[in-house]
Amino acid sequence: MATADSTITTSAPQTDIDLWSDEVLTDPYPYYRELRDLGPVVWMRKHGLWVVPRFSSIREALLHAEIFSSSGGVAVNDLANQAAEGVMLISDDPKHKRLRRTFMKPLQPHALKQLSERLNSLAKQQVDAVLAKGEFDAVTELAYFLPLTVVTELVGFSEEGKKNMLRWAAAVFDGMGPIGYRRTMDGLAITQEALKYVLEVKREDLDPDGWGAQLFTAADNGDLSYAEAQIMLMDYLGPALDTTINGFSSLLYLLGRNPDQWDMLRETPERLPYAIDEAVRLESPIRGFARVVMRDCELEGVAMRKGDRALMLYASANRDERRYPDPERFDIQRDARDHVAFGFGTHLCAGRNLAKLEITTMFNHLLSRIRRFEILEEDRIPHNTLRGLSKLMIRVHQ
Ligand code: HEM
Repeated sequence: MATADSTITTSAPQTDIDLWSDEVLTDPYPYYRELRDLGPVVWMRKHGLWVVPRFSSIREALLHAEIFSSSGGVAVNDLANQAAEGVMLISDDPKHKRLRRTFMKPLQPHALKQLSERLNSLAKQQVDAVLAKGEFDAVTELAYFLPLTVVTELVGFSEEGKKNMLRWAAAVFDGMGPIGYRRTMDGLAITQEALKYVLEVKREDLDPDGWGAQLFTAADNGDLSYAEAQIMLMDYLGPALDTTINGFSSLLYLLGRNPDQWDMLRETPERLPYAIDEAVRLESPIRGFARVVMRDCELEGVAMRKGDRALMLYASANRDERRYPDPERFDIQRDARDHVAFGFGTHLCAGRNLAKLEITTMFNHLLSRIRRFEILEEDRIPHNTLRGLSKLMIRVHQ
């Protein structure tokens, strides 16, 4: 990373690829490869913003959060960034560190340990129920199950919040695309609904033992202001559900398409943590978030200007052939724990251990009960930020 006074020698690679077109969102990976081959940082002419598509350039940028800032917004449009003003995800240190300390309290290892027994018995019941059917949609019947039954309850929103959380979260992430695109505009409209709820919900309406309410307790103790506590409800609302749902269904999908890997995982269930990392590497549930460049600088030889916006394309970095040999292959023997599907640096995902716990708990039951399964049908809905399956019909053999 060099700053403005170094000599900037290279002219920037450019592209006309539109990362938000239906065509790219439906089958993004060949485009991501093209971007990586163009350079470590590529100027997207159509949108007037940078994309950072390589593993090394993303890590380098995110190591320098003082230059690649989140507080200017992680969406690529100003409306979404203004709507989310004040949330932890779009803050910088030192304020960010202070907010994160409070946010993380219910996600500490001892809290997750307490949770794991409950997750385990609920997962067992659900697996029993679906296996009795033989054929079922693994997205709605398995992937949704723990996030929707347990996590929504832990967050502790009122009924209106619980009922809408999944829909609102998907919309917030869709609303992060460029203005004028249908998905972005629909997403932004629903984001207003979510925001209204978050800003108007009363502390008394939240579960007093829930994660949302503990933000207000932190405000009582002077760790946050009441306004910070209120808007930070958005940090629980946005990323807690779809991300895990997509990570779960992508792992199941990849194992279904690679039955040798399913057999291997059944024989060596201790590889499950690696299999989860490998699945989110290959099918990153969040494809990228943006940063704002705080001063003229150079990233891996490409000159960038103060005020520019740069999209960190995690999903592309995770398939970077410069980092991962044969990157398109799903291989549970691979050690891909350094992937950036959970981000990197100071904003590294705050909920990753919870997500991994949910996925592990469910898979422990599936691995011990299912000998073989076939994918009967699958479907995806293109989305501006999220990647996952909307349907995964499977037939199981015990
Ligand atoms: C497979 C599941 C998940 C994936 C792939 C994922 C992905 C990510 C990514 C890529 C970031 C980085 C943001 C950035 O660079 O600006 C992030 C941050 C974050 N995630 Fe996750 N996430 C997952 C699950 C969760 C869960 C279950 C929660 C909630 C409990 C959560 C809460 C957050 C929060 C609050 C942040 C912001 C952290 C900060 O600003 O310091 N995530 N996540």
